[in-house]
Amino acid sequence: MMKPTYRLEDPDTEVYVGDCREVLNALPEKSVDLIFADPPFNWDVPYGEWDDSRPREEYLAFTHQWLDACLRVLNDHGSFWVNIPDDTAAEIVVHLKGRGLTLINWCIWHFRFGQHRNSNFIVSKVHALYFAKDRNNRIWVPEAVLEPSDRAAIYDDPRTRRTKRPGQRVPLDVWYGPLWGRIQGNNKERRKQHHNQIPEVYLERVIRACSYEGQLVLDPFLGSGTTCTVARALRRRSIGIEYSSRSALSAFERIQSGPVRLGPATSQTNSFMAHRKRGI
Ligand SMILES: C[S@@+](CC[C@H](N)C(=O)[O-])C[C@H]1O[C@@H](n2cnc3c(N)ncnc32)[C@H](O)[C@@H]1O
Repeated sequence: MMKPTYRLEDPDTEVYVGDCREVLNALPEKSVDLIFADPPFNWDVPYGEWDDSRPREEYLAFTHQWLDACLRVLNDHGSFWVNIPDDTAAEIVVHLKGRGLTLINWCIWHFRFGQHRNSNFIVSKVHALYFAKDRNNRIWVPEAVLEPSDRAAIYDDPRTRRTKRPGQRVPLDVWYGPLWGRIQGNNKERRKQHHNQIPEVYLERVIRACSYEGQLVLDPFLGSGTTCTVARALRRRSIGIEYSSRSALSAFERIQSGPVRLGPATSQTNSFMAHRKRGI
């Protein structure tokens, strides 16, 4: 049996160093409640041991292999999230639909500091694809991720106070806001020598919405450790897999220190407009 390289208890948190395809194949079938995957995009990023500049066909074959390995460990009420840019989103959707999964939401993570360019529009988003094995029998906890509605935040409309969830709503499928930027520069969350680190609020929303305390969350591409760090703080068990031993050690240190920003994700308005008086 494969053993994790790093391990913590209460709640169980395991980090494996290795190729996620091999580690996933060694885990029990249908044992995981929620998978969040943020794979290498094949954009020639220096991830250490992993070659992130492969021929397209090889990258696609790798993509299909890790997707299938994830499906094997996901249980029947499980959710499967994939964070992926424009160039491979369509292929992932087609593959997973072909395997019988339902696309529940095609969310967009929108950020303002895209890389400047003149050849085409500046990229300011990544796709957050949310799939489930069974639409009608999945873990879905909207109450855990409510945010102020625009109607309440902008107009203070009294009608919003008479609803089932006064002044609140389930978040939109486009995610943005003050805490939702790319983790760069002197951002408090930033972990040095990591690339494409995802904000904690993003994982907080995914984990709160699609799992309960004590359930098992898995990230096949752990990177700086965002998923397991947030999962542990939210009292979920978790498994992270990372190819680079240096990154895995850094992720484990971060998991032990805990998140920087847990909490505000569910209570912030992300309205485009400031609060106004009614009737204006
Ligand atoms: C986009 S980053 C993940 C970033 C992460 N979501 C975070 O917030 O820090 C992708 C990570 O996957 C790792 N990786 C690449 N190929 C892998 C493989 N076959 N198995 C496991 N990890 C792999 C890379 O070393 C890199 O750290």
